[in-house]
Amino acid sequence: MDKKKLKTKGETMIERAENQFWAYDINNINNQKDLVLLDNVQFIYELSLAELELKSFGVEFKVTNGLRKFKILNKSEEIKNLIKKRGSYFKSIDGEFTDYFYIIQKNQTRSVNQYLTHWIYPYKGKFHPQMIRALLNIIGLKQGDIVFEPFSGSGTTALEAQLLGINFYGIDISPLCVIQGRVKTESIFILDKILEIKDKVISKLVPSLFHSEVDYYKLIDKLTDDERVKNFYKLARLLAVSDNSRRKKDFVTSYIKNINLMIASIKDYIEIKERLGLKLGEVKFEVGDSRNVNLPDNSVDGIVTSPPYSIALDYVKNDEHSLKDLGFDVTKMRNDFIGVRGNGKNRVKLYNEDMKKSYSEMYRVLKPNKYAVIVIGNATYQGKEVKTVEFTVDYMESIGFKLVKNINKIIFGLYNVMKKENILIFKKEI
Ligand SMILES: C[S@@+](CC[C@H](N)C(=O)[O-])C[C@H]1O[C@@H](n2cnc3c(N)ncnc32)[C@H](O)[C@@H]1O
Repeated sequence: MDKKKLKTKGETMIERAENQFWAYDINNINNQKDLVLLDNVQFIYELSLAELELKSFGVEFKVTNGLRKFKILNKSEEIKNLIKKRGSYFKSIDGEFTDYFYIIQKNQTRSVNQYLTHWIYPYKGKFHPQMIRALLNIIGLKQGDIVFEPFSGSGTTALEAQLLGINFYGIDISPLCVIQGRVKTESIFILDKILEIKDKVISKLVPSLFHSEVDYYKLIDKLTDDERVKNFYKLARLLAVSDNSRRKKDFVTSYIKNINLMIASIKDYIEIKERLGLKLGEVKFEVGDSRNVNLPDNSVDGIVTSPPYSIALDYVKNDEHSLKDLGFDVTKMRNDFIGVRGNGKNRVKLYNEDMKKSYSEMYRVLKPNKYAVIVIGNATYQGKEVKTVEFTVDYMESIGFKLVKNINKIIFGLYNVMKKENILIFKKEI
């Protein structure tokens, strides 16, 4: 027998998982003429989104050989180009890599889905960016269209829309979310201004600076007039605040490490934008209430969002340290956050009332015959499952939406409160 011991499958898997570049493997495409899935596509819901995405591009295809291989039946230059420029789940077509394959490699973290500026700030309950890119395609959004997100959270949809040249308008009740979204999408336009004051900020960086919030924010105010630069430095500080409060990391070490990583990510974004010739969408974020949206009737081409999951996560508590650091009155704020008001049964009742208002607003602002994607799950509260998904479908259908797709998706990390979520695609029928 060969003396060289063959590796077991387990050993190979572990090696792959430990090497953060496994998803970017550049082998294995030369002989594959047709369409190759990205290696990180693992779940049934992802395959079903990949198929829906192909259909939205007008591709006729056959799934062959173990679900991972596709044979395109109506190949043309136009179809090839659509998959190459806009696709989300594909690594290559006819031996040429897709834009997305290049984009995901611009990553300063160990997590395959935290590429470009997505990783900035550890916000709980982030969307999976690859899924969002696919959903934007699936609901037929094109360059120049506008997508609205009434619960924009950490800004995942914003960055993905921007990359695809789709205009984005997002609101969130949390000012911290608005800062995150802005920094992730605006910093590429002001990198020189960020770098201009970096040394001045760092040279004044003594531990005492971090113990007095006022000094830091005042210093930044003095050093720049540009709101976008201020937001960058605010968020850099909040990352350190969060690291310190959640993981007891030293402020200054964390601040310097993060600011350098943030700058590296912004450079990555600029570099890939130029290399791929991306025409970016316009992005606008505001602090706002989804129950009362500042948009005209029939004005947006699509909605992609995940509302608070009933009472699964307390968004105010999660980010209390950062909100307080920014000087907000957290107790007062809770009154406007959906899902955290009231106690016991009353909490669910208030949630349902608030969400009805938000869904009605979505219906009002969406253009007829366009789509709203709601990602939501049932949570367990006080030992009982709260049927948020059923409630959402019932209410949406009662106001004129039609459920056209319901895709189950397993989620990891929140096992104690939620095991799966649903991607619900509704059409505004008239
Ligand atoms: C599930 S999270 C969204 C996460 C987001 N999809 C992401 O990728 O980061 C729900 C968001 O709803 C926001 N929210 C709660 N009440 C709101 C309200 N009345 N109006 C607008 N946003 C609200 C919370 O601040 C939270 O960011």
